[in-house]
Amino acid sequence: MSLFRSEEKIAAIREACQIAATVLHKMKAAAVAGITTYDLDQLGRREMEALGAKSACFNYDPGSSINPFPAHTCISVNEEVVHGIGDIRRFLKEGDVLSLDVVVDYRGFIGDNALTIIIGDGKPEHIHLVDSTKIALEKAIRAARSGKRVGDVSHAVESFIKKQKLGIVRDFVGHGVGESMHEAPQIPNFGRARSGPRLQAGMTVAIEPMITLGSPKIEMLSDGWTAVTRDRKPAAHFEHTILITEDGAEILTIPNI
Ligand code: MF3
Ligand code: CO
Repeated sequence: MSLFRSEEKIAAIREACQIAATVLHKMKAAAVAGITTYDLDQLGRREMEALGAKSACFNYDPGSSINPFPAHTCISVNEEVVHGIGDIRRFLKEGDVLSLDVVVDYRGFIGDNALTIIIGDGKPEHIHLVDSTKIALEKAIRAARSGKRVGDVSHAVESFIKKQKLGIVRDFVGHGVGESMHEAPQIPNFGRARSGPRLQAGMTVAIEPMITLGSPKIEMLSDGWTAVTRDRKPAAHFEHTILITEDGAEILTIPNI
C-alpha cells in the first residue's frame, strides 16, 4: 500500500500537532474572567516557544488581507467567528463564548487545532451551540477514512448541524495541512455525500466546523482579519488535524501533558 506522505513526514507532523494541542489546552486552562485576550495570546506565544515551536499565524500573509496577521494565535469572542486578534483592552467576562485557534510550525511542519469554551456559566442556547459544533467535528472525523470522499466529511457536518437548527459558515473551510498551513483539498462544512476528492491513507487534513447560533452570514472587521457574524450572534469553532488511515482517522492534535 502506498502512502500519500512518507512515514518520516507523518511523524514530524504528529509532533507539530501534539505541540499545537498542548498550547491550545494551556490557553484554555488560562481563559478565565478578567484576563485579556492579549495576555492569552502572549501565553500561547510563550508556550510555543517553550516547546521549540513558533506560531504559523504570526505574520502570515495570504495576500488577500490588508496586513499580515499580527498575533500568535486566533482569539475570537462571541460574534467573532474566526481569526480574532488578541487585544490588551479586551477582558474576558462570564458568559463569553471564546474560540481559540492555534497553528504551530515545528521544524517546518504544521499542526492546526481550535476549540470553543464558555467562560463561567453560559446560556443554554450557547451551550447547545458549542456542544453541537464539537459533535459535528466528531461526526466528521468518523466519516473520514481512506477511500471516502471530502463530500462524505462535509455532509456529516451539514446533516447534523441542520438538525440542530444552527448556521454553517460557508466562507471558511477545512483544509489539507502538514507542510504548509493550507494545502489541498479544501473541506467545506456542507456538501453532498460521495462527491469531491478521495481521501487517501497518509493524508493529513484539518477539519473545522464554524457554526453560528443565528444567520451564518459573516462580515470582516476593518482590521482585515476578524470575521464576525452579520447578526452579531455568537459562533463556535472546533478543529482537529487528523491522519487518514485505511480503517479510519487518527486525531493528531492530542495534547502531550
Ligand atoms: N486555523 C486557521 C485556518 O486554518 C488559522 C489561520 S490563522 C492565520 O485558517 F492568521 F494565519 F490566518
Ligand atoms: Co485550520
